[in-house]
Amino acid sequence: MSGKHGEIQRAFDRAAASYDAFAVLQREVGDRVLSRLQYMHIEPKLILDLGAGTGYCARHLEKKFKKARVVLLDLALSMLITARTNQTRRWSSRSHYLCSDTLKLPMLSASIDFVFSNLMLQWCNDLPTVFKECRRVLRPGGLLLFTSLGPDTLQELRRAWSEVDGLPHVNVFSDMHDVGDALISSGFSAPVLDRDLITMTYQDLFDLMRDLKGIGAQNNLTGRRRSLTGKTALTQVRAAYERYRNNALLPATYEIVYGHAWAPTSNTRAQDGSTVATFPFKHLTRRT
Ligand SMILES: C[S@@+](CC[C@H](N)C(=O)[O-])C[C@H]1O[C@@H](n2cnc3c(N)ncnc32)[C@H](O)[C@@H]1O
Repeated sequence: MSGKHGEIQRAFDRAAASYDAFAVLQREVGDRVLSRLQYMHIEPKLILDLGAGTGYCARHLEKKFKKARVVLLDLALSMLITARTNQTRRWSSRSHYLCSDTLKLPMLSASIDFVFSNLMLQWCNDLPTVFKECRRVLRPGGLLLFTSLGPDTLQELRRAWSEVDGLPHVNVFSDMHDVGDALISSGFSAPVLDRDLITMTYQDLFDLMRDLKGIGAQNNLTGRRRSLTGKTALTQVRAAYERYRNNALLPATYEIVYGHAWAPTSNTRAQDGSTVATFPFKHLTRRT
């Protein structure tokens, strides 16, 4: 795999062994989004976890939905190998592992009851394609539930870097409205989106950088530059970040975007908002 996708895959492959030790934020967001399932009355038989990583959320999904099979899909094979190692009930598990790209799901149309994804979508720069794929594989009435990162993520780091040089060091993330538009243009019904800010705190900027590297996000979240960031620039950004120190700690803001939407059933809504009902042709008989 080449290009940006290849870089993302390699970064996560490298991080598989350290991921669980550093993924505090990812588990917290995972718990928050999983708790929303108590308000959604679904009984899925087949669940797809997109960008499943080391399987934290997939294990919870398997526990919650006792009759469901869970497919863990990830671009990085090492993540899936770690997920399988993490599975304690390996022989009775209903989990399946699939190394593949979310942008092109190797699944039949209308085959999945529930598509779940925690903190993976921000790596996909083509949200409409991802959502179209989700919509294609979901059966009518199926649920998509996800989290992603919004544009306020790592705002302190972005500002600190802007004082050092004019280069983009922190990725630009889609805002909630763009995510909503992509859901609608992909044909989903009743999308619901909201956001939340989570502040992580650190003793030192290098602790934040170590966290990002530990989960495989260092290059993807904080740098589009291919060259290594020089020692002088790092010293400067560390000094610039100091202005955010509060109660002896450095904050790092994460904007979490939560969303869910449903694959339309046959009675669905047209783009102008009116309801469209579809009937089998034989029901449209002439009145006598
Ligand atoms: C931040 S981790 C989140 C992992 C897991 N969902 C969690 O909650 O811990 C993002 C994961 O998405 C995967 N990923 C990134 N882009 C992907 C893509 N296009 N298709 C499939 N997986 C992808 C990465 O390999 C990584 O394992």
